[in-house]
Amino acid sequence: MSPVTRLSSEIARRRTFAIISHPDAGKTTLTEKLLLYGGAIHLAGSVKARRAARHATSDWMQMEQERGISITSSVLQFDYAGFRMNLLDTPGHQDFSEDTYRTLVAADSAVMLLDNRRGVEAQTRKLFAVCRRRRMPIFTFVNKCDRPGEDPLKLIDDVEAELGIRVYPVTWPVLGPGGFVGVYDRVHREVHVFERRGDHGQTRADSHVLALADPSLAELVGAPALQRLRDEIELLDGVGGEFDEAAFARGEVSPAFFGSALTNFGVEPFLRSFLTLAPEPVARESGDVVVPTDQPAFTGFVFKIQANMDPKHRDRIAFVRICSGSYESGMMVRNIRSGRELRLAAPAQFMARERTLVEEAWAGDVIGLHDRGSLRIGDTLSADGDVAFSGIPRFSPEHFARVAVPDPLRRKHLDTGLRQLSEEGAVQVFYEDAAAGLGPIVGAVGKLQFDVLLHRLEHEYGVIARLEPLGYVAARWVEGPEPAIRQLGRDPGQRLVFDAKRRPLLIFESEWWLRRALDTAKEVTLHEVAP
Ligand code: G4P
Repeated sequence: MSPVTRLSSEIARRRTFAIISHPDAGKTTLTEKLLLYGGAIHLAGSVKARRAARHATSDWMQMEQERGISITSSVLQFDYAGFRMNLLDTPGHQDFSEDTYRTLVAADSAVMLLDNRRGVEAQTRKLFAVCRRRRMPIFTFVNKCDRPGEDPLKLIDDVEAELGIRVYPVTWPVLGPGGFVGVYDRVHREVHVFERRGDHGQTRADSHVLALADPSLAELVGAPALQRLRDEIELLDGVGGEFDEAAFARGEVSPAFFGSALTNFGVEPFLRSFLTLAPEPVARESGDVVVPTDQPAFTGFVFKIQANMDPKHRDRIAFVRICSGSYESGMMVRNIRSGRELRLAAPAQFMARERTLVEEAWAGDVIGLHDRGSLRIGDTLSADGDVAFSGIPRFSPEHFARVAVPDPLRRKHLDTGLRQLSEEGAVQVFYEDAAAGLGPIVGAVGKLQFDVLLHRLEHEYGVIARLEPLGYVAARWVEGPEPAIRQLGRDPGQRLVFDAKRRPLLIFESEWWLRRALDTAKEVTLHEVAP
C-alpha cells in the first residue's frame, strides 16, 4: 500500500468519541461492554477489577491513592470490526473538571448516556451544551432498560424538550410481561430478542433476530408485548419519517438506542449503528482554512495537560489530538504559539491507564507527550508551517474560593504558581480591583481542581495556601461599555472580577441571579465561555 493510501485508510477507520453522562448512568459499565464487544477484554468486570488491584500498588499519584479515584483521564483505544476506536474518558464523579469539557473538543462525536428512570440530569445537560456549541453529532443511549423505567415515549419527549434536539429512535425496547426482552431496530427492520444468561453480562448476549412479521415472535415475547411494539412502531413511523443523516452530522437530530449495559441487551445493535453513523476524524479549521485530515503533514493540538503529582517525577503529560497526517516517533514539529521546534519522542498511549509506547499514530488518534512545561492547553503543534487551530475556550467555573497565604513572604511564589497553573489550565484565577486589596479568587469546574491546586502550590512552588470558599456558582464573561459593566458589578447577587487576561467577568451567587442578569442586561453581552 502506498503511504498516501495507507494514510487515508488509517484515518477513515478511526472513530474518536466520548461518552457524556451524569454519574451512575452506567458509563463505566458501557465502556466495559464496548471493550468486551471489541474483543479488547474477554470478561467484563476486568477493568473495574484491575482498577482496584492497581490502587494497591500504584505510585502514579499520591492523591489518587489517598482518594481511591482516578484523576488521570485516559484514552481507550481498541479495534472493533476493522475500526480503530478512540474512546476519550470524560471524568464525571468527584473528578469532574474543566478537563472533562476540554476532552469533548478533541472528540468527533459523543454518546449521551441516560438512566431510563432519570432521563436528562445536571451533568448531562452541561456536557451536552458543550457538544451542542460545537455542533457535534450526538448519539443517545437509554440505559438500564432491564429494570422498569420511564415510559420510552415520554423519555424521548423529555429529552427533546429539555435539550432542544430532535431525537430519532433507531432501536425501540420490546417490553414483555417479565420486562425488557429485546429491541426493534427501525433501520434494519428487525427484532432482536435476547437470551438471558446467568453470568451477569460478563459475556456477549446471544439473540434471535427476526422480522416484525415473523409468526414465532409472538411466542418469544408474548402477544400483548408484540401488539404494544407494533402500535408504538406505527406511531413512531407516523411522526418520524426517515432518519436524516445530514441533520445528525450537524448535531440537530440524535439517533436514540435503548438497552442495558449490565446485561448487554441492545449493546450490539447500538454499536452496529454507531459504526455506520459516527463520523471519521473531522477536518479542523485554522483561521478560515480547513486543514484536510489526510494531508501528509502532521498537525494537532493540546487539549489537556496532566501533571504528575509524584514529586520524584515532575514531568507532565500533554494530550494531543492529531488533526492531520501521521505521527512517527522522533519527528520534529513546531509549537506555533512559542515558535519553538520540538521532537515528539516516546509518546504514550493509554489502555486503562497502562502506558505503552507508540510508534505511529494517525489523524483522529490521541498521543500523550512528556512535557517539561513548554506546552499549554490549546497549543497547535505543526509540521506544516503556520497552521493554528482555534484555541480551547475557558469554561465557566462553578466553584470559587479566595486564596489566602499565611506567610506574606510567599506572596510572590503564590503569584507565579497561580499564573503558571492558570496558563496550564489547572484552575482559573480572577482578580478584583487592586483598590479592594483582597487576595486572588480561584475558580474551578470541579472541586477536586482545588485540592490539586493546593497540592501543587505546596509541592511545586513551596506555598502553603488556604482556600476560603465563596458562595458563587457561575461566571459569565461580559462584553459591553465599561460603565454598564461596572454598574452590573454593583448589583446584588453578583460581583465583578477580571481574569488573567484582564477580561471582565461577573460571578453570580445563584442561578437565579444569573438568569436575572441574562434577562435584564441590555447594553452588555454575557458569554458562558471566554469570548
Ligand atoms: P458511571 O460510570 O456512569 O458512574 O456508572 P457505573 O457504570 O459505575 O454504574 C453505576 C451503577 O449502575 C452500578 O451499580 C452499575 O452496576 C449499575 N448499572 C450500569 N448499567 C446498568 C444497567 O444496564 N442496568 C442496571 N440495572 N444497572 C446498571 P452499583 O450497584 O453502583 O455498582 P456495582 O456494584 O454493580 O458495580
